[in-house]
Amino acid sequence: MSDPQVTLLPDVVIEPLVARWYAWSHLISPATAALNTAFHHIPLLQSFVASPDVHAVACQTPSLRGGPFVDLPKNEVPAVQKLIDDTQSSQAALIAFGESLREAFRFILKNADGYSIEKHYQSLPEPVKGYVELFYTLGGFPDLRVIEQLLYRSDLNRSPYQSAMIYRAKGDQRSFAFSTPRMPRADAYELNQPFASEVYDFLARLRFEPQPLSVVLERLQAKEQDVALIRSLVTETPTPVPAHQHQKGETRWRYFGHACVLVESAEGKSVLVDPLIAYETDASLKRFVLSDLPEKIDYVVLTHNHADHVLLETLLALRYRIDTIVVPAGGGSMADPSLKLMLESIGFKKVVELGPLGSVETEDLRLTALPFLGEHGDLDIRSKAAWHVQAGSHSLLFAADSNNLEPKMYDMLRTMFGKIDTLFIGMECLGAPFSWTYGPLLPVAVDRKKDQSRRLNGSDFHRGLEVVKSLGCQAVYVYAMGAEPWLQFITSIDPDPNTAPVVNAKQLVEHCQGMGLTAERLYGHAEVVL
Ligand SMILES: [Fe+2]
Ligand SMILES: [Fe+2]
Repeated sequence: MSDPQVTLLPDVVIEPLVARWYAWSHLISPATAALNTAFHHIPLLQSFVASPDVHAVACQTPSLRGGPFVDLPKNEVPAVQKLIDDTQSSQAALIAFGESLREAFRFILKNADGYSIEKHYQSLPEPVKGYVELFYTLGGFPDLRVIEQLLYRSDLNRSPYQSAMIYRAKGDQRSFAFSTPRMPRADAYELNQPFASEVYDFLARLRFEPQPLSVVLERLQAKEQDVALIRSLVTETPTPVPAHQHQKGETRWRYFGHACVLVESAEGKSVLVDPLIAYETDASLKRFVLSDLPEKIDYVVLTHNHADHVLLETLLALRYRIDTIVVPAGGGSMADPSLKLMLESIGFKKVVELGPLGSVETEDLRLTALPFLGEHGDLDIRSKAAWHVQAGSHSLLFAADSNNLEPKMYDMLRTMFGKIDTLFIGMECLGAPFSWTYGPLLPVAVDRKKDQSRRLNGSDFHRGLEVVKSLGCQAVYVYAMGAEPWLQFITSIDPDPNTAPVVNAKQLVEHCQGMGLTAERLYGHAEVVL
């Protein structure tokens, strides 16, 4: 039998899953995973089984975009019922932990009355005992935190339920990731391996480095009946990939879509911000793809723990070429699981945590974590940073979704870091109500009006302009607007040009151009040599 050399087709999607849900960081961190499973996934699937027609109508209604509706046809009801049953049996301990965590939280909110909290430990539900610490904030409010390190080492670590669905993309569209489970399908190969497995690095390399088909089948532990499917995902005649070109002495940045930007320094050092890379599909919008990155990426930096900025799918595809991942230091509150622990648990070996003003450097590239205010529903979340990138004499700031709630802070940063030449700023100034992301973690449902007021808002025109003025920027790029078609499945952003974020972005760009600055709203792809 012939054993041809093959590579992965460039439109092959490797979609990471946890217990059949699209994998994002809150499904890796055990406590948030428990709460999402118990209070988001199960009730959502039960609602679909009870009334699939309601879900079908909602999925066709633009104003309900991104809402809790399962985008599956009615004939999937038996399969979804089976998923509920399987989850309730295989994830029983996790669900019990989630329910107990909520119960414990409610218990101390009700019973901790400002006197010593010690006596309440004995009343905690059995599944959470040993994993939580009870305390008062300095203001006297009772609160609870989980000891994540213990959870990762317990049976609640979900790596046995991690897998991937591997299939060829058809265009850029996918069902909304946070409300539709990924059901098995005939054209997708199911790889049942935890994310820490080296098979993900093998597959990532297979996009560029041919391997004998027999080796591919062996690494994927393919059964006889899988061979035809796997053959449909590879090719014997790869399209030649041009070598990644970077001229020594040249500092440049490349925009890959949304908040993902690569900076390469004159010495050839590289940093990739918030990796989110599109596939080479037959869709028409031009894009940079995996082969437009250097073979080795010195640093990846993550701005904050929202799914559109920490995309496990791309991170796994790049793991073998990343030297160091730098993340904002956080953790400590229920709403703020540690990014470092999460990444280490899925196989990243070198993860560095930096607090505000902490920095790392190599040759002519220095990265500094600057404070990032707001955009998290006023929750106590510290794992967020705007990244200051000093590449030789060029200074850039990746502010992501920072909300300029206090312009004075940027005035201080200017005195410490000097002018910032190039600013990248997101302007999602009318974000979702905070329960959209954090609802399953709440001990009690939040009042609707309060939820509407505490939104995941970035800067608007006025606040963005204050940043530009405070930092003395020469070039301003609005990015991270969730507009590219390949990330609709995680942002569900309304593409209407009259939404507040689009209008505010346009205002900022025009105003900055009027001030004589370079200003543009990025879309699709872009490259600038500095
Ligand atoms: Fe965000
Ligand atoms: Fe964002």
